[in-house]
Amino acid sequence: MNSTETAAVVLRAHRTDVGQRPSELLEVRVADQRPIGDGEVLVENIFQQIVAVNADLMFENPGLPLPAFEVGAPLYGPAIGRVVESRSDTAVGTVVQHNQGWRDLTAIASNAVFPVPDGVFPGPEYMLNQGVTSFHGMVDIAGVGAGDVVLVSGAAGGVGSIAGQIARARGAALVIGIAGGPDKCAYLTEQLGFDAAIDYKNEDLDARLDELAPEGITVFFDTIGGTQFETAVRHAAFGARFALCGALAGQIGGGHGGHPRLDIMTAIVKEIQIRPFTTMHTPEQIQAWIGHYVPSFSQGTITFPHTVLEGPLGRTITALDELLAGDHRGNLIVKLAN
Ligand SMILES: NC(=O)c1ccc[n+]([C@@H]2O[C@H](COP(=O)([O-])OP(=O)(O)OC[C@H]3O[C@@H](n4cnc5c(N)ncnc54)[C@H](OP(=O)(O)O)[C@@H]3O)[C@@H](O)[C@H]2O)c1
Repeated sequence: MNSTETAAVVLRAHRTDVGQRPSELLEVRVADQRPIGDGEVLVENIFQQIVAVNADLMFENPGLPLPAFEVGAPLYGPAIGRVVESRSDTAVGTVVQHNQGWRDLTAIASNAVFPVPDGVFPGPEYMLNQGVTSFHGMVDIAGVGAGDVVLVSGAAGGVGSIAGQIARARGAALVIGIAGGPDKCAYLTEQLGFDAAIDYKNEDLDARLDELAPEGITVFFDTIGGTQFETAVRHAAFGARFALCGALAGQIGGGHGGHPRLDIMTAIVKEIQIRPFTTMHTPEQIQAWIGHYVPSFSQGTITFPHTVLEGPLGRTITALDELLAGDHRGNLIVKLAN
C-alpha cells in the first residue's frame, strides 16, 4: 500500500442473527485514498476503539440512535490518529480524536477532529474511554451517592468498569460487580476498588446477593439485561433506582436469558425507578465527565481499564469477535500504527 491508498474494514452484508460472529461479515479492502480538500486534514489512525455496539450497527435496522453500517462501506467509530496532511488550521503532527476509524487513513473536515490535550493522560488512547456513558448513567440517571448499595452488571466491560469506580468515588456503601469468570472478578476487587464481585458463570447470583446485600440493592447499573436484570428486581430495596444502559444478553445472545421479563408486581410493590437511558454525548454530559475524571485519573481514584491489542487493521475484526465472547476486560483498543 502507498500513500494514495488506504485499507478499511468494510461490511460485506448485514447481520441477520445475533448468533453471527462479526468476522463472518467483515473484511479489509484496499481502496484509493481521495485527496483532501480545503478545510480538511488527512489522518493516519493510531488507535481504534472496539465496542459492543459495533455488532448492533451491523444490522440493517439496529434500532439505535446511530446510523447502521452500510454494506460495501467502511465502518465508522471513535479512533485516535495523527494529522499527516492539512489544508486547514490544524497542524500536521497534531494527534486527534474523531469518528472515522476502522481504516488506516481518512480524509476528514478539520472541525470534525478534536485535538488530544497534551500532558493530561498517560497516552492518547485514554481519550477512547466510555466514561461519559458511565458517568451519565451512574450520576444523572441513578443519582448514586453516599450509603448506596450498588450492583453493576458487565462490571469488567468498558462501561461497567468505570461505572463501578464512579459509585465508589461518590461514597457508595457497597459496590458489587457481576462478571464472567474468576479472573475478571479478582480484577474488580483487587484493582478497581469494587467491594465484591459475583462470577455469574460459576456462582448462584441469587444466593450471593442474599449474602452480600441482605437489605437489598439501592442502585443497579445494568449493561446486560437478561436473567441478571430479573435477579436484580428480586433483590431491589424499596425505591431502588435502576439505570438501564445496555442489554448485551439480548444483543449478543449466548444464553443468560436474552431479553428479560419484568415482574411488574414486584416492581410496583418496591416502587423501583427503572430508567433506561441513551447518552447523546451532549457538551454538558462530556463536560460533566471531563470535570470529574481529569482530576480522578491524575489522583489515581479512577483508572481506565483497557486492553490494547497490536494491529494491523485486520486485527480489529477478530478483536470484535473476542469482545463479544468476553475474552478481554475493560475497554478494547487495537493499535494500528506508532
Ligand atoms: N445507553 C447508552 O448510552 C450506551 C452507551 C454506550 C454503550 N452502551 C451499551 O452498554 C453495554 C456495554 O457496552 P460495553 O462497550 O461496555 O461492552 P462490554 O462490557 O465491553 O461488552 C462485552 C462484555 O459483555 C459481557 N457479555 C457478553 N455477552 C454476554 C451475555 N450473553 N451475558 C452476560 N454478559 C455478556 C462479557 O463480559 P463477561 O466476560 O463478564 O461476561 C463481555 O466482556 C452495551 O449494551 C452497549 O450497547 C449503552
